[in-house]
Amino acid sequence: MNIDYDQKIPNNVDLASDKTLQRALERWQPEFLNWWREMGPEGANQYDVYLRTATSVDQAGWAQFGYVKMPDYRWGIFLNPAETERKIGFGAHRGESVWQEVPGEYRSNLRRIIVTQGDTEPASVEQQRHLGLTCPSMYDLRNLFQVNVEEGRHLWAMVYLLHRYFGRDGREEAEALLGRRSGDADNPRILGAFNERTPDWLSFFMFTFFTDRDGKFQLSALTESAFDPLARTTRFMLTEEGHHMFVGRNGIRRIIDRTAEVMIREKTDDPARLRALGVIDLPTIQRYLNFHSSVTVDLFGSDLSSNAATFYTTGIKGRYREDRIADDHVLKDASYPILEVGNDEIVGRDAPALNALNERLRDDFIADSIAGVDAWNSSLQKRGVDFRLTVPHKAFNRRIGPLAAAKFSPQGRMVRAAEWDAHVREWLPTAEDREFVQSLMGRVAEPGKFANWIAPPAAGINGQPIECEYVRFS
Ligand SMILES: [Fe+2]
Ligand SMILES: [Fe+2]
Repeated sequence: MNIDYDQKIPNNVDLASDKTLQRALERWQPEFLNWWREMGPEGANQYDVYLRTATSVDQAGWAQFGYVKMPDYRWGIFLNPAETERKIGFGAHRGESVWQEVPGEYRSNLRRIIVTQGDTEPASVEQQRHLGLTCPSMYDLRNLFQVNVEEGRHLWAMVYLLHRYFGRDGREEAEALLGRRSGDADNPRILGAFNERTPDWLSFFMFTFFTDRDGKFQLSALTESAFDPLARTTRFMLTEEGHHMFVGRNGIRRIIDRTAEVMIREKTDDPARLRALGVIDLPTIQRYLNFHSSVTVDLFGSDLSSNAATFYTTGIKGRYREDRIADDHVLKDASYPILEVGNDEIVGRDAPALNALNERLRDDFIADSIAGVDAWNSSLQKRGVDFRLTVPHKAFNRRIGPLAAAKFSPQGRMVRAAEWDAHVREWLPTAEDREFVQSLMGRVAEPGKFANWIAPPAAGINGQPIECEYVRFS
């Protein structure tokens, strides 16, 4: 079904047929726009930005490109089409028809999941709101804005579900989503990583590589949900999430390419010399990687969780690619390996698979991250640079779960406090690292120009040349 753009709120859910819901969302819309003006990309509301807007969920319509001022972006409500006779794929209700309404007994858990997902969307816009002021190119500025408007749309996706299916509590939660602020001492966003600052573009690319990938895995688990509107909504969100990870993957690769080029030309791997030449040395990139990977790994929650077991058994949240897993999809007697802190090392043990579902999703995420980092390493190898980037062991720098009880090196070796203190400057970004990276962040915003520390992309957006005027400032 195409989106009706004549309506105030573009949608493919036949909003016009439900006047009460339509009015409620039309009351929320100006509050959303106020939030966008206050917390969206700083100083950018008047720019004409070459953005992709979805006008339908099919191949032809989901990626329409054109110049838009961001506050005029057509944030809409899109669900993937319903599959006929879709059945629940896991848990106690396996084989039954999916739900088109929320079962009363699962209402509070479903609401909690939707609110937690919804909260991350505006949070990331808030975290990224100053980055436009220090963009390394007009191409990157446009990509940042694309990510930002789509996170705004993801908020709409969750708010639609809250308004449509959760009555008054849903409306209150939708308002609260505009009230919390990333990093605010009194009213912070729900999850830790979404209260961290995104102070520079190296952090931004790491965030989109790791933390948007967390989004991919959470959303994938929700596409399995027995609550069909949630499954259909998250399926469409995933197509947009792909672009966010592309931004991270390619952003870091371009930084690495530039650094490698200078390393080869100057025949040096000395960080101080490379910094003097205005590029980011690879050990600094590794420390940023360690930080963002570990903070994101925590987002999956505690290794053993009775909530996760309940979500699965009741059918509201599945596993990553549930349909490709060859088991009984009930997991009553199954086990899954988890890690614990032993005397001087990590010890593995088998835990009930139902309770270990967070850990399983975390492991799926880590495998996917490693594949992405390997692609960067082949780029280094091709250029004749010996350095290899690595994803830190999942025990490294944890704040959540049993592994948080001890200190581990990035390789997963347990270390005493003294050893941690002696090495932490090699493992996590230091104040000097952050200061150095910050010092590179000047604004480069002429078409086709790029900051010295990052290579141009291989291609422009939507077949446009790299030197296209992706953002018109006046
Ligand atoms: Fe998102
Ligand atoms: Fe995202």
